[in-house]
Amino acid sequence: MGEKCIQLLHFLVVLLVFYGNTTAVGVSSEAKIRCMDREKQALLQFKEDVVDHYGVLSSWGSEEDKRDCCKWRGIRCNNRTGHVTKIDLRTSSFNNGSQRLTGMINPSLLELRHLKYLNLGGNDFGGGNQIPVFIASFSRLQYLNLWSNSFHGPIPHQFGNLSNLRYLDLSFNLELDGGNIEWLSHLSLLRYLRLSDVNLSQATNWAETINSLPLLKNLQLPLCQLPNFVPPAHPFNSSLSLEVLNLFDNDLSSSIDSWLFNLSNSLVDVDLSFNQLKGLIPDSFGNMISLVNLDLSWNRKLDGGNIEWLSHLSLLRHLDLSGVNLSQATNWAKTIDCLPLLKNLQLPFCQLPNVVPPAHPFNSSLSLEVLHLSGNDLSSSIYSWLFNLSNTLVDVDLSSNQLKGLIPDSFGNMISLMNLDLSLNQLEGGIPKSFSNLTHLKTLSIRYNSLTEELPEFLEGNSLQVLNLEGNKLSGAIPESIGQCSSLIRLFLGNNSLNGTVTKSIGRLSKLEHLDISQNMFSGSISFICTSVGVQLRYLDLSNNQLSGRLPDCWDRFENLSAVNLANNNLSGKLPNSMGSNLQALQLRNNSFHGELPPSLKNCEKMILIDLGWNRFTGKIQEWIGMHLTSLVVLSLRSNKFHGGIPETICHLNQIQVLDFSQNDLLGELPKCFNNFSSLVKNDGIHLFFLKPLYFYEGNALLQWKGQEREYTKNLQQLKIIDLSSNKFCGKIPKQVATLVELVSLNLSRNNLTGQIIQEIGQLKMLESLDLSGNRLSSEIPISLALLTYLSVLDLSNNNLSGKIPLGTQLQGFNASVYSGNPHLCGLPLPNKCPGEEVVVKPHGKDTRSREEEEDRFITAWFYISMGLGFAVGFVVVFGTILFSSSLRHAYFQFLDRIHNLLYVTTALNITRLQRRLGR
Ligand SMILES: *[C@@H]1O[C@H](CO)[C@@H](O)[C@H](O)[C@H]1NC(C)=O
Ligand SMILES: *[C@@H]1O[C@H](CO)[C@@H](O)[C@H](O)[C@H]1NC(C)=O
Ligand SMILES: *[C@@H]1O[C@H](CO)[C@@H](O)[C@H](O)[C@H]1NC(C)=O
Ligand SMILES: *[C@@H]1O[C@H](CO)[C@@H](O)[C@H](O)[C@H]1NC(C)=O
Ligand SMILES: *[C@@H]1O[C@H](CO)[C@@H](O)[C@H](O)[C@H]1NC(C)=O
Ligand SMILES: *[C@@H]1O[C@H](CO)[C@@H](O)[C@H](O)[C@H]1NC(C)=O
Ligand SMILES: *[C@@H]1O[C@H](CO)[C@@H](O)[C@H](O)[C@H]1NC(C)=O
Repeated sequence: MGEKCIQLLHFLVVLLVFYGNTTAVGVSSEAKIRCMDREKQALLQFKEDVVDHYGVLSSWGSEEDKRDCCKWRGIRCNNRTGHVTKIDLRTSSFNNGSQRLTGMINPSLLELRHLKYLNLGGNDFGGGNQIPVFIASFSRLQYLNLWSNSFHGPIPHQFGNLSNLRYLDLSFNLELDGGNIEWLSHLSLLRYLRLSDVNLSQATNWAETINSLPLLKNLQLPLCQLPNFVPPAHPFNSSLSLEVLNLFDNDLSSSIDSWLFNLSNSLVDVDLSFNQLKGLIPDSFGNMISLVNLDLSWNRKLDGGNIEWLSHLSLLRHLDLSGVNLSQATNWAKTIDCLPLLKNLQLPFCQLPNVVPPAHPFNSSLSLEVLHLSGNDLSSSIYSWLFNLSNTLVDVDLSSNQLKGLIPDSFGNMISLMNLDLSLNQLEGGIPKSFSNLTHLKTLSIRYNSLTEELPEFLEGNSLQVLNLEGNKLSGAIPESIGQCSSLIRLFLGNNSLNGTVTKSIGRLSKLEHLDISQNMFSGSISFICTSVGVQLRYLDLSNNQLSGRLPDCWDRFENLSAVNLANNNLSGKLPNSMGSNLQALQLRNNSFHGELPPSLKNCEKMILIDLGWNRFTGKIQEWIGMHLTSLVVLSLRSNKFHGGIPETICHLNQIQVLDFSQNDLLGELPKCFNNFSSLVKNDGIHLFFLKPLYFYEGNALLQWKGQEREYTKNLQQLKIIDLSSNKFCGKIPKQVATLVELVSLNLSRNNLTGQIIQEIGQLKMLESLDLSGNRLSSEIPISLALLTYLSVLDLSNNNLSGKIPLGTQLQGFNASVYSGNPHLCGLPLPNKCPGEEVVVKPHGKDTRSREEEEDRFITAWFYISMGLGFAVGFVVVFGTILFSSSLRHAYFQFLDRIHNLLYVTTALNITRLQRRLGR
């Protein structure tokens, strides 16, 4: 699944790259002859159907000073005949989405019989409709670009009539269907073809079709669901002279040799990443001597062999073999030395063999700028050779290796460095003073190493935007000079041994958006957030420190604040009424807060997670929680002093997965509307929060599990829990509980519930833990309880149950104590036999200890198996079945860092498509 996610990310990156094209140009300049009136009228008619909020077409009009349509924006005419030959209205919606034109393409344009060039890219002329067939009638058209226009449905086969076409781009519309692309074979003058994200799953002969385009130089069919070649395959004709071949993400699964080599001489730029290509990359790959860019990344079954082939590709500037097996490439570093023009080398997760010292494999004549070698188990000997490249390196990623010892001073010589990532190694000591030489450094990440010592003063006045030192053993206070890093946007110092007050040191960080100093020993008040932190703040994690005092009342400064975690401190007082607006997660667990919840929280309509457990909050559970906070997924009020009943409105929380009201003074009957909790009633697959801010947030929840509190930080998606234990609820267990078929844990223990255990309890098929102990439940245990095959924790003790414990290995396998305190209960595993049962049966043979162990293993797996994105808020927050290995997760973080300044998610990405890609 991790791969899928990486695919998604890559997809986004590609999208960004494509969106990132230049903006519209083209005001005709030198036209002397005025345009034809008929053509002008046609253009004006076209304009009528265009919604143009920002006056992009303001130069188009019938007024006297606009008479010459050849001078209109985006129009060009033939300077001899005056005919309109070119319409260029492309926009880049990522650069300025507001200028996007929408509407319809009026067929009046057909009047422009001399039109050779039509570019409407980046607008919305489709509106979810089909591409109009009349476009196929522009018989002189040489250039057609309709990328990202929300067209949907089949591409008209009449496009085969556009026999003059040299350039065609229909990328990134809404599920365009290319059919069998027979129509393409008629476009014999085509030089450039880009159909990214068009569905070509029916194009079984796509390669043959491409062979009928002898002039094609640039072929881009990424994300097209292309059918795989059937071997023996020589799909590409040697008469082709393709230079650019992009088949990224198509599930091609053949071996790589059979079909590419006919193109050996011409290919300059090849991207076959994110396919399922397999087998050994043969030496003949070295014949592609024109290659400048090669990307074979994330074909996990591909084997690079000894990469001898690579040494012949001497024009190579960009090489990405991420995830390709290079374990046989013992001389990989020497091979790289043969590539004098190489600028960008990406070999992460390649199982690279360690370079054996004394090693100076990288020749100082290389001028590498980007070097990514993460996830390769490289050990400390790498340092010796890295520093030959000091002057040129801009971006170095050595994370997730086995680097040990001190960070060498020599890093300070890499004066061009902008990004350095040494995370997830075993580095020790401090951050060298020489780092103060790295004046261009923007991102420094040394997460999860064993760094000790205090933070250096190296940071002063530099250009640092992201500093991530979490998960080390750094000590002392945050140096005041960190407050001088005025460019800092994200600061992660969590999980260290830092101490002191925070107040002074965070001064003047006016651009700070993301502050995480959790899991340290900071003390004192948190009033610094009012005085020092800029209003851009989106994410604040101060949890697990020794911070004390009241919350300051300035939360309304931060309009974008979406996640606040103050859990496990010594904070006290009431929650101020300034807290609210755009919060999506609020964690205040285990402090000494008191008083009622401020009504301002009512405004947090995007709230997903609230954890107020282990405080002294009072008051009733307000009706507005259910009425306004309808996005809530986790609501924990555990161990407070809330009183009164549960309002019926609580059942409006139809996203809820964790509802924990245990250990309060709540009373009354349980609501009868549990069946409204639709997340618990049905498994709707992937939950996808599609939120604007690009911030990553990992929440966690502390839960009662097997009588112990455990912190659950991983995949909350799996976690579907209702815990109402230790209150004073009375009456019967509502029968609607039986509809919660996704529920994993139900705890109603230590209340005053009466009546029977509902007969339909057996419908809760996912139930792993059921605790009904300490009530006044009576009658027999329903037989259906024996159907709960996942049930590993059960407690029915101290009720008034009677009759025989239903038979089923599960129920007899539990320790007798789970049934104790029910004087009228009989049968195994209890010692007292039921009336009429005379045969003496030995106590159940199963070794209880081994059962415990088994359970533990199971539960541990349940808790920790999935290194998920966890419970994430922000960006395209995708979770659910996605399981990330730590390294991929790391890659994800990096990805976020990299695109941080680029991405503003627009509606151009539709959610169902993302879901589809993820679900695939
Ligand atoms: C007319 O256009 C052609 C190319 O489109 C150009 O070479 C020529 O210089 C132009 N003539 C004038 C008078 O602008
Ligand atoms: C985007 O377009 C709007 C309206 O034309 C304009 O006001 C704004 O300055 C533009 N922004 C950028 C970044 O070009
Ligand atoms: C355009 O295509 C249609 C259908 O493919 C065909 O019947 C017609 O003859 C073509 N027109 C021209 C001018 O080629
Ligand atoms: C692509 O098209 C095929 C056939 O037209 C269809 O079965 C398939 O569902 C489409 N794929 C997607 C992801 O829509
Ligand atoms: C900083 O770089 C210069 C060379 O550019 C070097 O002489 C100096 O020693 C470096 N400083 C540190 C602290 O490494
Ligand atoms: C912070 O920790 C250091 C040891 O790492 C200790 O010497 C110092 O007294 C501590 N300061 C505070 C304010 O606790
Ligand atoms: C339990 O409920 C009964 C009435 O149903 C009431 O008399 C009793 O006081 C309750 N016990 C507690 C501990 O609330």
